Amino acid sequence: MILVTGVNGQLGYDVVKELNSRNIECLGIDKSELDITCSDEVSEYFFKLKPECVIHCAAYTAVDKAEDDRAVCYKVNVEGTQNIAKACKAVDAKMVYISTDYVFDGKGNIPFEIDGNIRPISVYGKTKYEGEIKVKEILSKYFIVRISWVFGVNGNNFIKTMLRLGKEKERLNVVCDQIGSPTYTFDLAPLLCDMSISEKYGVYHATNEGFCSWAEFASEIMKKANLKCKINPIPTSEYPTKAVRPLNSRLSKKSLVKNDFKTLPEWKDALDRFLIEIRG
Ligand SMILES: NC(=O)c1ccc[n+]([C@@H]2O[C@H](COP(=O)([O-])OP(=O)(O)OC[C@H]3O[C@@H](n4cnc5c(N)ncnc54)[C@H](OP(=O)(O)O)[C@@H]3O)[C@@H](O)[C@H]2O)c1
Repeated sequence: MILVTGVNGQLGYDVVKELNSRNIECLGIDKSELDITCSDEVSEYFFKLKPECVIHCAAYTAVDKAEDDRAVCYKVNVEGTQNIAKACKAVDAKMVYISTDYVFDGKGNIPFEIDGNIRPISVYGKTKYEGEIKVKEILSKYFIVRISWVFGVNGNNFIKTMLRLGKEKERLNVVCDQIGSPTYTFDLAPLLCDMSISEKYGVYHATNEGFCSWAEFASEIMKKANLKCKINPIPTSEYPTKAVRPLNSRLSKKSLVKNDFKTLPEWKDALDRFLIEIRG
């Protein structure tokens, strides 16, 4: 049986859907069933359930809020991950830990390799990286999967925000110097399921194929949704946020290819399917 944390979030929701569609026995849980920051409860829960694998999607994901809320962010992303990893060790379960492009500093303009220079520049990025370290220290049967710019039907994301603002406004300023790849949870979920039933442990990057800036992403959303709103590209320096974000979020997918995992479809294709899906 596979346990999925963060089932009420974007990714956990689609992972459970995918496992169910494959008739793989699974259980999706969220904070109301198990608060991952309570180590005793986590270990007790695992002893009762004895999962073979955990796909750990739960996290503190409010990147800007984290700058003022360090302790809570640390508790969930570092201690919570450590609790899950220790419990996996105790019942000999595999662990799939979801990490982020924010572990990198965003310097340069070539894709980061999995062992690239790790230097997170935000509280959130630091805690996600410390989570990676805990997983590596505690387990040998682990997958660390770094993803970026996530969107899924279950939850709020950039696309949903753009669709709302696109209906309200004639023009929108969107940053054009942060480059990365959107990741559709519906496309990522099958890969995570493939990993969880394999023994090809290690660190991976997984996003939809192709790179774009947030401004290009926004323009494509407006075009495909037939919205008249014009996107005005601006540099990050004109859009200050609490947390500093990496300018270069390009991730190299070499480790996926090397291990015979399927890469994800192009992000524009993913966007088309997402827009159809949310239209219902
Ligand atoms: N979103 C992105 O753009 C992005 C980019 C790169 C990587 N990631 C990583 O991808 C993973 C999935 O992201 P997502 O966008 O699906 O996240 P999400 O929608 O924010 O969902 C995270 C889930 O974790 C739960 N959670 C938070 N604290 C918890 C606790 N103490 N105990 C148990 N559950 C708790 C949340 O529950 P509540 O809502 O009740 O707090 C929420 O349901 C995360 O590991 C994230 O760091 C995300």
